[in-house]
Amino acid sequence: MEQSDNGNSIISSGVFNHNVGKYLSVQENSLQNRDAFWSEHARIIDWYSTWTKVLDDSKKPFYKWFKDGKLNVSYNCVDRHLKNNRRNKAAFIWIGENGEEKIVTYQGLYRRVNAFARTLLDSGLGKGDCITIYMPMIIETVVAMLAAARIGVVFTLVFSGFGSDALAERIRDSNSKLLITADGGFRNGKIVDLKKIADEALDKASDIETVIVYKRTGHDIDMKEGRDFWWDKIVKDDFLPVPPEVMDSSDPLYILYTSGTTGKPKGIVHGSGGYSVWVANTLKWAFDPGEDDRWWCAADIGWVTGHSYIVFAPLLLGLTSILYEGSILYPDPSRMWQIVERYGVNQLYTSPTAIRSLMRHGNHYPDACDLSSLKVLGTVGEPINPAAWEWFYKVIGKGRCPVIDTYWQTETGGFIISPSVNLGLPNLKPGSATFPMPSVEPYVLSEEGSPTRNGEKGFLCVKGTWPGMMLTINNDPSRYMDVYFSRFPGYYYSGDYAIQDEEGYFWLLGRADEVLKVSGHRLGTIEIEDALVSVDGIAEAAVFGKPDAVKGDAIVAFVVLREGHHRTPDFVTQTKKIIRESLGPITVPDEIHVVNNLPKTRSGKIMRRVLKAIYLNQVPGDISTLESGATVEEIKEAMDLFRKQNKDLL
Ligand code: PRX
Repeated sequence: MEQSDNGNSIISSGVFNHNVGKYLSVQENSLQNRDAFWSEHARIIDWYSTWTKVLDDSKKPFYKWFKDGKLNVSYNCVDRHLKNNRRNKAAFIWIGENGEEKIVTYQGLYRRVNAFARTLLDSGLGKGDCITIYMPMIIETVVAMLAAARIGVVFTLVFSGFGSDALAERIRDSNSKLLITADGGFRNGKIVDLKKIADEALDKASDIETVIVYKRTGHDIDMKEGRDFWWDKIVKDDFLPVPPEVMDSSDPLYILYTSGTTGKPKGIVHGSGGYSVWVANTLKWAFDPGEDDRWWCAADIGWVTGHSYIVFAPLLLGLTSILYEGSILYPDPSRMWQIVERYGVNQLYTSPTAIRSLMRHGNHYPDACDLSSLKVLGTVGEPINPAAWEWFYKVIGKGRCPVIDTYWQTETGGFIISPSVNLGLPNLKPGSATFPMPSVEPYVLSEEGSPTRNGEKGFLCVKGTWPGMMLTINNDPSRYMDVYFSRFPGYYYSGDYAIQDEEGYFWLLGRADEVLKVSGHRLGTIEIEDALVSVDGIAEAAVFGKPDAVKGDAIVAFVVLREGHHRTPDFVTQTKKIIRESLGPITVPDEIHVVNNLPKTRSGKIMRRVLKAIYLNQVPGDISTLESGATVEEIKEAMDLFRKQNKDLL
């Protein structure tokens, strides 16, 4: 490891293919000859008929990639591999939290997907309908996604850690008529009662006519006559193939809800053609997995990382993937390393939070396992601090494996800034996602919209488009234009801060808006505030993230009680319980403080920035728009008291 001029360490040991010249020429070609470039790279999948135009940008920013091209994503993920010797190859090696193991070949996946597609058809579903999937990390979740895609049904998969309100909201917004769930899932040695949460959600979102329930845990659950059906009972075993529906490149594949800065979550809609081409190519470029490799994306299937890099990209490339059901800390922090050793994992893709939490448990867990199969490591979801990067690089990769820091978002479909093993690695700098993927043109812009100087912080934006970009926001195209394209005309606005250093490397510096990253999970402060004010007795709430050494952000809430309500001894415990049930465990604030007033502007907007600064004992910055200085004093007093009472915590 060397030091660069700006003091950052640079990784340039001779073990990597540092052919950055090749990367640069591919990148240039992708920009200069965009249509020819994508005509060639779109062949990574099979098309029933090719496009009339590579990119139709006549209705910007509603871009159409591979206009009029026809394909089926499920066919590309499964059927296509049956024609060659991938037929009997493992598509997934599934590992249950309690140690069970299941290997599903491409042929096996084909049978399951067809059988379930038949069930969906028999339930009266067809092209253009939408279903919701609320499942644990099991093979049947993938089967449900691919079965839907096979018959042109759009799915929305809801993270199994979300609570009943979050689920109900997504069922309603997506207009789903059918829900697929399980009796429960295993997490940290406990059962997550998915069906019970689903039942509560269905009381609030009553349009669901049919619920299919997979038996995973076998514990007692309620089944509603005429609405709920056991998966095993209604999926027919007598094999009857279902012809894949011919889909247009711009037909939606799925809707994935993600947090924004205002109101309810945004239903990000991803299409069929451009999205598939993007995720398959980006996985190949960044990680270069080989035909016989074992790829492990250790993300949750309920987030975009799971959609793109557990399900679609690896299947499109015909890879063998590891799918692990549970927590990487269960039954102890050696779980991840034991899986790497036992299954000979070659590429391991995880999050900075996971790395930090495993690092905290010491080197003896990884040191006790044989990690020599690893070739490439990767991270995603948050900025990675250099200490975690170096631990991953040295202790896990033994200095042999590049760390691929992939920067992207739900909206971008796949990686947009990342080092590329396949195209030629640059020297790596811990904490930098390095350079854009081919065809992506990122800029760091100032408040006024002009490119910043090297080293100057600004907003990460992308000029133009790329094939993996979302199609729109479900039911809300004007919000799509507003949120992403109005602030800097001609650019996609990411909502992230970044700098570009003197060598052109991109460094992502976290969110520029009111979005939190808690253990890599993207949460909107507003959603948590909405849940807090729905608690009886809470009039107002303000939420912000405080820096946390493992989780990135930890949630802190300040609340004002309604007239006549007093803080009861179990107020905090009760409030946390309500939030856990409505939004899910990851959204529960670490701290809840009761104050008489919140700092607000004269127009009544809560100044979370001021609150956070006072909380962190910093100067609150410009408070000229603050309605009353008295609140600041009050919060300071509340914090002083809290610090005194919780000396051990802080
Ligand atoms: O703030 C950035 C952060 O995660 C956000 C996107 O979150 P989500 O849509 O949930 O997707 C996560 C998985 C792609 C971004 O706006 N982020 C993601 N990757 C990185 C990152 N921040 C820094 N470095 C990264 N590599």
